[in-house]
Amino acid sequence: MPDKEQHMMEEMEIDLLLETIQRCYGYDFRDYARASVRRKVRDIASTVGVTHISELIPRLIHDQQLFSSIVGIFSTPVTEMFRDPPFFKLVRDSVVPYLRTWPFVRIWLAGCASGEEVYSLAILLKEEGLYDHCTLFATDFVDASLHKAKEGIYPLRSMKTNIANYQNSGGRALFSDYYHADYESVIMDAGLRENITFANHNLVTDGVFSEMHLILCRNVMIYFNSNLQSRVLNLFHDSLLHGGLLALGSKESLHHHEFKDRFIELEPAWKIYRKIV
Ligand SMILES: C[S@@+](CC[C@H](N)C(=O)[O-])C[C@H]1O[C@@H](n2cnc3c(N)ncnc32)[C@H](O)[C@@H]1O
Repeated sequence: MPDKEQHMMEEMEIDLLLETIQRCYGYDFRDYARASVRRKVRDIASTVGVTHISELIPRLIHDQQLFSSIVGIFSTPVTEMFRDPPFFKLVRDSVVPYLRTWPFVRIWLAGCASGEEVYSLAILLKEEGLYDHCTLFATDFVDASLHKAKEGIYPLRSMKTNIANYQNSGGRALFSDYYHADYESVIMDAGLRENITFANHNLVTDGVFSEMHLILCRNVMIYFNSNLQSRVLNLFHDSLLHGGLLALGSKESLHHHEFKDRFIELEPAWKIYRKIV
């Protein structure tokens, strides 16, 4: 078959697969960035051992396990403590002063994966004396990730990177003050979780978290196409109170025209914005 026809056929098979996932399980990946979806679907087909992507469809309809592993692959739950240390340094130096102006602070961390990012933020807020005034909502659409996040148990081998990140982000204590080791794992202090609510929330289909002072969503929207990015940015806009902050990190931005007049950019390099309208 000529390349062009083969490509069209593959695209149709991917469309049908995504529609099957949506209709059978309610997860909608149709507005995820296509190139990355294509690569992942090809990998899944090769791992399962089928020649054509469409062969995955009947299996998927009857096999919840296959669905769970597909969601796991699509979700890309890569993360680490104090990921991008300069970002956390900036939160400490430039975002915390805003947080101090409010008597209580509501924070939504969307796409929290296995929780490292929200524990990092909790540590930072404790060190800045703000934690007791904060309520944090950490959400993801993968229950297995949320389960790990709630447990707060991480491999000991990841600590070398985590400790270095913490120090480079301007951490004020020893990272080991916040966990205890147990054989090959570390267990984060339960006190860090006291003000965190973990919840399943799908950015594609679910609604606003209202009256937020700060929303963090890093390394999530890079997997979405432009339509979905716009939907999610509207969701964030509607979830923030006037003057609230949106932190997107280095990879995403408010490049959509519709947001230009609704936010001002506070930090160009790390894409931190303030809602003005
Ligand atoms: C690469 S991780 C980023 C984790 C963390 N924010 C960080 O920067 O280290 C992407 C996370 O986004 C989540 N995610 C992807 N699509 C989502 C959606 N539609 N709704 C909620 N979370 C989603 C994934 O499950 C995954 O845990």
